[in-house]
Amino acid sequence: MIAPHGGKLVNRIATDEERKSILSKSKEMKKIKVSYWTLSEVENIATGLFSPLEGFMNKADYDSVLDDMRLSNGIVWTIPIVLSISKEEADDLKIGEDILITDENGKEYAVLNLEDKYERRKHEEAKKIYKTDEDAHPGVKFLYEQKDIALGGKIKLLNRIEHEDFKEYRLDPVDTRKLFEEKGWKTIVAFQTRNPIHRAHEYLQKTALEIVDGLFVNPLIGKTKKGDIPADVRMKSYEVILKKYYPKNRVALGVFPVNMRYAGPREAVFHAICRKNYGCTHFIVGRDHAGVGNYYGTYEAQEIFDNFKPEEIGIVALKFEHAFYCKICGNMATSKTCPHDAKDHVFLSGTKVREMLSNGQLPPPEFTRPEVAEILMSFYQSARKDKNIDVQEI
Ligand code: ADX
Repeated sequence: MIAPHGGKLVNRIATDEERKSILSKSKEMKKIKVSYWTLSEVENIATGLFSPLEGFMNKADYDSVLDDMRLSNGIVWTIPIVLSISKEEADDLKIGEDILITDENGKEYAVLNLEDKYERRKHEEAKKIYKTDEDAHPGVKFLYEQKDIALGGKIKLLNRIEHEDFKEYRLDPVDTRKLFEEKGWKTIVAFQTRNPIHRAHEYLQKTALEIVDGLFVNPLIGKTKKGDIPADVRMKSYEVILKKYYPKNRVALGVFPVNMRYAGPREAVFHAICRKNYGCTHFIVGRDHAGVGNYYGTYEAQEIFDNFKPEEIGIVALKFEHAFYCKICGNMATSKTCPHDAKDHVFLSGTKVREMLSNGQLPPPEFTRPEVAEILMSFYQSARKDKNIDVQEI
């Protein structure tokens, strides 16, 4: 089994005894309230999905990630994992103190041993991580909405978040590692996605599956931007497709409870590292991975891997060119395998698909399987009735 990033799977989940002992002192402890999205990052640290991180980044790690795409100890890491609070809240906290992290209702979820507090340099962070400081970029917009002071320090998880959705698909790295072992898979390719499955996705997954033992389909269900299809609709599309078109004993489906940053290349490396922590040996990186708008070059998320020695990343990036259906070849292809002109290729942009669905038109089977087209259509129809959802934005 592939080693986790940094060599060891982090486990920051309190034992029953630790939990009791911490909670017995909770009355005297200072508390900070955080959003659901931050809590889920706390949980991801605790389960080892973000190994080798044992907590939120201190300033040395934050600076080093921004400047060198590494933690201060040299281990590759490309995205800041920080806990932001306001200056007024931070003024009250002392270095060395244990602080309770609670949800917005005050329920205790974790304890943070405060190691560091420092100002988050948001414009610099935006430029270095997202390559833009425009708030039209959804990741940058979210960054600007964060509070100004970052807290660093190790965490211990006291309570898991009680989820009602996707229960059977919530697998921690220890669970996926066990699952892959039980299945006897030695090589596993992971697929990151924030969209409903279409034929190009299927092509990438199945091409990869020709050379490895198993496929781990791992749709992201964390925070996404307005306009992305909701996670439950995307998961439904996966359930029907896997059942009908994939060999059961070669595929596993699990959700990726991580917030989307839309940081393109840097996020591709982060995505790959998390999948290594799940026990995957290969990771698919296609066109404009984790990109948004025109902020990144089509293959920049592949090229970034060349900055590191293969052993520094550990998981192998399987790089795919832009895939489409070719009417002359009569199958899915890329420019590596198809000699025909673009006019013979079926490729639909997200905007075009949205337009078709809004007009009650199903996208063609060369673009998406009919079973998925129907799920999308029924989502569009109900969204149109629901005034809270702006279909133009979907
Ligand atoms: S992402 O934000 O999670 O990257 P998406 O769900 O669209 O978005 O993509 C999932 C993976 O499939 C990414 O690696 C992406 O690069 C790849 N991909 C999506 N569409 C294509 C395509 N037509 N050709 C090649 N790769 C693609």
